[in-house]
Amino acid sequence: MIKRRRILVTSALPYANGPIHIGHLLEVIQTDIWVRFQKARGHECYYVCADDTHGTPIMLKAQADGISANTLIERINREHKRDFAEMLIDFDNFGSTNSLDNKALCERIYLNLRNAGHIEKRTIRQAYDEQAQMFLPDRYVKGECPTCGTADQYGDSCESCGATYSPADLKNAISVVSGTTPVEKESEHYFFKLSSFEEDLVMWIQSGAVQPGVARKLNEWFTQGLKDWDISRDIPYFGFEIPEAPGKYFYVWFDAPIGYLASFAELCARTSLKLEDFFKVDSCTELHHFIGKDILYFHTLFWPAILQAAGMRRPTSVHTHGFLTINGQKMSKSRGTLITARRYLERFPCEYLRYYLAAKLGSGLDDLDLNLSEFSTRLNSDIVGKLVNIASRCAGFITRSASGTMSSGEQSSGSLATRLPEPQLYAEFAAAGESIAAAYESRDTASAIREIMTLADRANQYIDQRKPWVLAKSPEKLLEVQAICTQGLNLFRALMIYLQPVLPVMATKSMHFFRETAWSWESAATPILGTRIAPYEPLATRLDPKAVAQLIDSDPIPPPLGPANMVTAIPLAAALTPVARSTSNVSDTLSAGAAAAHITIDEFMRVDLRVARVIAADLVEGADKLLRLKVNVGELGDRLILAGIRAAYDPQTLIDRLIVVVANLEPRKMRFGISEGMTLAAGPGGKDLFLLSPDSGASPGMRIK
Ligand code: MSP
Ligand code: ZN
Repeated sequence: MIKRRRILVTSALPYANGPIHIGHLLEVIQTDIWVRFQKARGHECYYVCADDTHGTPIMLKAQADGISANTLIERINREHKRDFAEMLIDFDNFGSTNSLDNKALCERIYLNLRNAGHIEKRTIRQAYDEQAQMFLPDRYVKGECPTCGTADQYGDSCESCGATYSPADLKNAISVVSGTTPVEKESEHYFFKLSSFEEDLVMWIQSGAVQPGVARKLNEWFTQGLKDWDISRDIPYFGFEIPEAPGKYFYVWFDAPIGYLASFAELCARTSLKLEDFFKVDSCTELHHFIGKDILYFHTLFWPAILQAAGMRRPTSVHTHGFLTINGQKMSKSRGTLITARRYLERFPCEYLRYYLAAKLGSGLDDLDLNLSEFSTRLNSDIVGKLVNIASRCAGFITRSASGTMSSGEQSSGSLATRLPEPQLYAEFAAAGESIAAAYESRDTASAIREIMTLADRANQYIDQRKPWVLAKSPEKLLEVQAICTQGLNLFRALMIYLQPVLPVMATKSMHFFRETAWSWESAATPILGTRIAPYEPLATRLDPKAVAQLIDSDPIPPPLGPANMVTAIPLAAALTPVARSTSNVSDTLSAGAAAAHITIDEFMRVDLRVARVIAADLVEGADKLLRLKVNVGELGDRLILAGIRAAYDPQTLIDRLIVVVANLEPRKMRFGISEGMTLAAGPGGKDLFLLSPDSGASPGMRIK
């Protein structure tokens, strides 16, 4: 019997200023597989995550969109939760760093640090935007590199020559927020004295808390010496104010990891779990963080030191993965290679991506490439050609020739497996359970999958050799056919049990096919005999490589304007380049009727058309063609739309009416404000404009297809 462990697991908290993309998915899929594996092994395992909601980029994005930061992060939180749920990411809780629990925990931890003497006040000089009246993070100052003179470089480092410097060193610097020249200004900041924890960190790293590659990287940092860490930011800042420090806020990277605790606290509040049990020093529970290699410093230096300084336990392990590239290239929105979770989910089964990534993820820090032609080949060959093939080849014979019942085999004194025609073969499958488990445990899913697929080949070879389809032609051989197919189905069953962490839905369907109600890892040790199976339904279908190629946007969107539209995966450089763009302020209504060149169904599907209810309609001062509509789009929340329909409609008559809107139009800044969508109407315009409405029975949020 394995000792039952108590394990708390996290994935890094995605920023709440953009959609989930498949880079994020790599991480949560890796984590989710590990968690499901632990649960299947009978351990007590909890998986929490949250949105990372604070900081300057989110504050500025909300401002640019003309909404409050709270509105922004609430909308993103709904979208993130939905994407993760559809990817079968089984969080026990998904919270937000902007919660009361998190505020209280941040204050408590900070006061512990301060009272123990780990916080120091220092005055620093920083770039300040006098027009926007705010201090500027390094990345919000741009100018010419002081070393090589390359234009358009950030305030922290040069992309051309690699020099690092501070914003004050840039020549001809400008603020990205207002375009004005920043000045230097003094301000008092709060520092966490990281350097006092150097020795403890070295010991923690030697305890095996990180992978060998990470330990090497950390040693480099130790050689350079640890710098104390500035954990405060000046108002205006979207975040939590520091106790007894008016106008000073916790830096987002201080409150974000504490968000792990806060999310777990929410889970504790609705169960009998205790936060204490998982965070007190010398706790016999485990704490595991899964992260990408870009955020190593925060998780392997600051975070364990903060926990220790606050009198809490440190992580059992921080597991770091590499970066996902697409067809060998960094993901980029402008090149069309930023694949959002939505884009993937609208086209393909979520489990295919889970399988593909699992098959490529090792336990190291190597980057990993999503190659689209390999993606379809691999899925078609492994899942359809090998795995599902075993079941589909055997199920029909059991249903047709044995009235749906697997054979019971000869009664014998040995284990159940000895009643199969090839007990030795089954025993091999059962025995493989331990090495497959060891691979999952060490996050080497690639070798787990390799071993499982080698077994799948063995199962197919067995069926090929015994040729049930030939035997089935002779009525006296039907018992033999039943026995062979019972063997085949049991081999399939063992493989699906091993794949349960990766393919939870396919595994559940397979379990129901065997008319079983629960599978643990141990279930693979023994075959099932003499039971009835359910009618076989295809478990997976082939992927069309042409359709897969379209995961990449063939018509990439040009880089958007300003920090507002920043997506975390695109280089800030692209996002922040001011692009002049003509905005139509005449009409924001898409008139139906103009003939256009053909578009593909795929292009059409990218338009998210929804039913919306008008909840407010007002004249827009100074605009004689526009109405400002507030519409409710069901689960997508409320939107403000500037529509050029004033000549055709009296605003009051529109209230409560159901209309059709384009819901995924990038918010547009118009002369009279931000428009967050578009209404659909027919007709030439002016008075002759007719809004489209659905038949009665439709409700806000419904998708139009
Ligand atoms: N908000 C911080 C994490 C705070 S944790 C207390 C953050 N957010 S993020 O949205 O930029 O990234 C979330 C996670 O996704 C990180 O672990 C990051 O490494 C990972 N990835 C983001 N892009 C990725 C790829 N292209 N490939 C693999 N992982 C990537 O960092
Ligand atoms: Zn340079």
